[in-house]
Amino acid sequence: DQGIAVFTSGGDSQGMNAAVRAVVRMGLYVGCRVYFIKEGYQGMCDGGDNFVEASWVSVSGIIHKGGTVIGSARCMEFRERPGKLKAAKNLIKRGITNLVVIGGDGSLTGAHMFRTMWADLLEELLKNGDISEAEKTKHSHLNIVGLVGSIDNDFCGTDMTIGTDSALHRIMECCDAISATAYSHQRCFIMEVMGRHCGYLALVAGLTSEADYVFIPENPPPTNWHEILGDRIKSARAMGHRLNVIIVAEGAIDQDGNAISCEMVKKVVVDETGMDTRITILGHVQRGGAPSGFDRVLGSRMGAEAVLALMEATPSDEPCVISLAGNQAVRVPLMQCVLRTQAVTKAMAEKNWAEACALRGKS
Ligand code: F6P
Repeated sequence: DQGIAVFTSGGDSQGMNAAVRAVVRMGLYVGCRVYFIKEGYQGMCDGGDNFVEASWVSVSGIIHKGGTVIGSARCMEFRERPGKLKAAKNLIKRGITNLVVIGGDGSLTGAHMFRTMWADLLEELLKNGDISEAEKTKHSHLNIVGLVGSIDNDFCGTDMTIGTDSALHRIMECCDAISATAYSHQRCFIMEVMGRHCGYLALVAGLTSEADYVFIPENPPPTNWHEILGDRIKSARAMGHRLNVIIVAEGAIDQDGNAISCEMVKKVVVDETGMDTRITILGHVQRGGAPSGFDRVLGSRMGAEAVLALMEATPSDEPCVISLAGNQAVRVPLMQCVLRTQAVTKAMAEKNWAEACALRGKS
């Protein structure tokens, strides 16, 4: 009679619902009580109606939906100790000893901190009279498994994060649509795509849309990029191309670490070539909408594996992340992934671009 709680945290992504569904159904199948926690860590802190016991049918008809039906949030309260105390108490009062967190880098790091502080939080709750000695004993261990839900594909340790494939499809559709109008008017289009500090979506979108130039954070352009870009566009036109597409990752930077915006790129194109140029910022359409088949399957596989990992966890086990490696669902220590992801940020801050790319370890 174990209690499992599942929640989604941070930016939503397509395929989160498939993962939630799989956790609920696999959890019920192995005989657990399964709870949704609505609105991410905020719901965990607030308690009350945010905890809902799930049944088999409560996750029917959600696999095809974008976003997350149980809500998500970026929560400041949970970052502080009083927030963590409230969250711990809410879990203990419902007999929950297992957590599945579905989110990105920040959400998974938060889970790791929570687990690290768990024994300490229990002591304080007992001292304050918030929990009994029996509750403290029953909850001496909190098992945590993470699933990486993010369109950014910025988490080290997994080949693909849940949502990336759907976002890429959406970007491709938009690029195709833009290309049609660009062709008609012989225009140059500059498209900004999401990804925070990761250039995966921009890079792959550049490939799938035959872009002329791509700006990504991990590989800033040479200092004379203005000239190179101008020449590139002019030579494409000289070969008979009627349009140009330039993809700019939202986190794009130059060699000094300064942001490269679409407006800056547009000015360069106009100054260097005189081309009729437009900007399209794709924004949140990349995150909404139906998940692709790949993300539905990925979320389902990861969710089922998460429950198995929880059921097999021993008290000495560290929290793990369910990752995709060579098309297999594998369990990787959460902290190892978090540290590697942080090392990427550090390498980029130190302008060690080759190191950043190697650490990401993604094609
Ligand atoms: O992390 C997912 C993401 O969509 C990023 O690509 C983007 O930078 C950010 O979230 C946008 O956040 P918000 O939805 O809070 O504007």
